Amino acid sequence: MMITYENKIILAPMVRIGTLPMRLLALRYGADIVYTEELIDWKFMRSKRRYNDILNTVDFIDQTDGTIVFRTCSEEKEKVVLQLGTCDADRALKVAQMVEKDVAAIDINMGCPKEFSIKGGMGVALLEETDKAYSILHTLVTNLSIPVTCKIRIFETAEETLNVVKKLVSAGIKAIAIHGRTRNERPQHAVHTDIIRYVADKISIPVIANGGSKEIENYKDILKFKQMTGCTSVMLARAAEWNCSIFRKEGLLPMDTVIKEYLKLAVDYDNSPSNTKYCVQNILRELQETPRGRKFLECQTMEQICAIWDLEEYCCEKQSKYQKMGIQGRWQVTP
Ligand code: FNR
Repeated sequence: MMITYENKIILAPMVRIGTLPMRLLALRYGADIVYTEELIDWKFMRSKRRYNDILNTVDFIDQTDGTIVFRTCSEEKEKVVLQLGTCDADRALKVAQMVEKDVAAIDINMGCPKEFSIKGGMGVALLEETDKAYSILHTLVTNLSIPVTCKIRIFETAEETLNVVKKLVSAGIKAIAIHGRTRNERPQHAVHTDIIRYVADKISIPVIANGGSKEIENYKDILKFKQMTGCTSVMLARAAEWNCSIFRKEGLLPMDTVIKEYLKLAVDYDNSPSNTKYCVQNILRELQETPRGRKFLECQTMEQICAIWDLEEYCCEKQSKYQKMGIQGRWQVTP
């Protein structure tokens, strides 16, 4: 079944956070669609696809250093959107064709304001070069069998935002995610729901509202944000990073429950200790200052991390099982 974008609650793309364990956790808590972290086209092109028959995953492995660029599995196949960082239509197409059979859709990042992206002509730089942005989207739409979308930031005015959106929509994309901040605004700035609403009212494809996490503390707040922006769908980044159970209609779970469920998935899918630690750090936040938090910060292995949440045995059993099966394509040295 082809993915659609009406009435969806979505895990936003987040570098280092949106790896497989967090995406699966979000889906299990009730997210309808999950975006990968942004993957840079030229890095992705160095990878080779391999089926991992121990984990039952599809792995894209960097041929230069053996690291896993992208790992996915059948549980998320119909719901995972791969986000690409790119400034080049041909490269974007090559990567998209490498993953076309393994993901539900492709998204192009047109919102990242980081220096790395802008210098490379990627992210929000594409909103200054709308002909190029259009050509990337149009190339993908014309040559792929799966939907193509993009994620943007707003401009200073609603009119300017609408003009650019109209041009991108004319490339044939199936939906557009709008982060309601300008390229110079930071996460602490208020989100401009009025501009998102203005655009959503005037275009025919689904608009996915983004940028509301500061005001989203429970499931009901997601619906409030949806209503304020007049959008059919909502995408959450930080609210999900801090407590992924935000996607549960039944209500938030305690932080320790979320960490435990996250760690089990990280062990199940042989996630790297460094990535696992990073994600847990972003759940703990200021609690890293507590005695338990400090003990956690000293951890270097999955066993050590798991032990803090009474999952040492779970971790050791899985790891020795995988080792006996001769697991390959493991994470390499900690970056
Ligand atoms: C992000 N964001 C982001 N956006 C994107 O298009 N690609 C990416 O890879 C990332 N990476 C990323 C990492 C982290 C840790 C954060 C917090 C954010 C931006 C994100 O998707 C979203 O647009 C903003 O965070 C605003 O939404 P929230 O946080 O208010 O829901």
